[in-house]
Amino acid sequence: MKQDVTLLMVGTGGYASVYLKELFDDSKDHGLRLVGAVDPYVAKSPCAEEIKKRNIPVYDTLEEFYAEHDAQMAIVSTPIYLHAEQVITCMEHGSDVLCEKPLSASPEDAAAMIEAQKRTGRKLSVGFQWSHSETILSLKKDLLAGKYGKIKRMRTIVYFPRDMAYYRRGGGWAGRRKMPGGEWLLDSVACNATAHYLHNMFFLMGEDIPLAAKPDSFTAEVYRINPIEMFDTCAMRLMVGETELLYYATHAVPMDAYRAPELIIEGEKGEIVLRDEGGFKTTGRTHDGECIEYGDPEHNYFRKMYCMRDAILHGDPLPCVAQTALPHLYCIWDLAELFPETPVIDQNFWTHDEDKDQNHCDCLVEDLERCWRDGKLPWEEGFPWAQQPRTWVRDGKYI
Ligand SMILES: NC(=O)c1ccc[n+]([C@@H]2O[C@H](COP(=O)([O-])OP(=O)(O)OC[C@H]3O[C@@H](n4cnc5c(N)ncnc54)[C@H](O)[C@@H]3O)[C@@H](O)[C@H]2O)c1
Repeated sequence: MKQDVTLLMVGTGGYASVYLKELFDDSKDHGLRLVGAVDPYVAKSPCAEEIKKRNIPVYDTLEEFYAEHDAQMAIVSTPIYLHAEQVITCMEHGSDVLCEKPLSASPEDAAAMIEAQKRTGRKLSVGFQWSHSETILSLKKDLLAGKYGKIKRMRTIVYFPRDMAYYRRGGGWAGRRKMPGGEWLLDSVACNATAHYLHNMFFLMGEDIPLAAKPDSFTAEVYRINPIEMFDTCAMRLMVGETELLYYATHAVPMDAYRAPELIIEGEKGEIVLRDEGGFKTTGRTHDGECIEYGDPEHNYFRKMYCMRDAILHGDPLPCVAQTALPHLYCIWDLAELFPETPVIDQNFWTHDEDKDQNHCDCLVEDLERCWRDGKLPWEEGFPWAQQPRTWVRDGKYI
């Protein structure tokens, strides 16, 4: 008889509710059985009623859950500063864990999680969905096989406009450097909503499927127009060996200026374009005339959940484990060290829209687009709002 993997959900609102909606879709055979949830604020979850209807036991703490139940798998989808403690507790109680990205805010927490993973012998994967997608994985295989030759440059741009409600959600941890209790958060546009697309470049540059490349250096500009400690706008040039990675991301454009992530990879033997054309398309073209359609990285969105299920059931390899997430984690950490205080874009360049309850900077829409086209940073373009970039160079301190 087919055995479903028992599952604990840690967090029930926010992004955790996206998982729960998938799990509550009875038209699908998930191969997973939700045996409990942990969330002291479950009443606020959009899934609260359904959880109750299905008699899923809910606890305030992990200890209370594990006192009465076991779970083969746990999904941890809570605010970042809780990840380390909760993931370690789950692994110590025998659960394999899918932790939402980012793994943690601090390298110290990440090291503790990796130590616990090795000590307990549990599996630990990180919820970067693109790194689990068949599209990105088959592209990575071709990059590793040298189909596109040496990679000269990768460029990513993404605009995800956000209003004030975004920064107020979940008790107001968004955009913070640290929690009032001192726990690291480092929540920003690059570490949260658009983290995937920065991580994706490290992932694609990795020397093997579950590895991601560490930048040797980067030059960055970060900005804010919102009342946050971290930043809502970021432009970076990162070097991995001789490969240039360019990353432009912002929340601070008007609500109607959404721009889906776009990635262009330039290799010596061809080029790959990942773009939203009413659904993402990822197309590779080699200089000798071959055209390869890799598909949509958003397809099979919950593959990250099923990869862990299959790792538990059949020992399948996991494509995005704790170590895979480290280059992104370190990049965010090093950025925060480089910018102990976030430069603010001069008030002359942005406004507050009362109706939409949003601060927005109209010039960013065109200006970041131009940077992306030219392969430059805002300061190099000479934009009047730009401030001098800062440079970080790796000194070998990775875990
Ligand atoms: N993969 C993605 O595309 C994606 C998208 C959004 C968020 N995320 C990640 O998901 C995680 C959660 O983010 P969010 O935006 O949903 O946050 P949120 O604050 O909106 O929701 C967090 C959930 O955790 C619960 N929670 C708070 N304290 C808890 C505790 N002590 N124990 C158990 N549950 C607790 C809250 O009640 C809430 O249900 C973050 O790591 C974030 O980066 C990932």
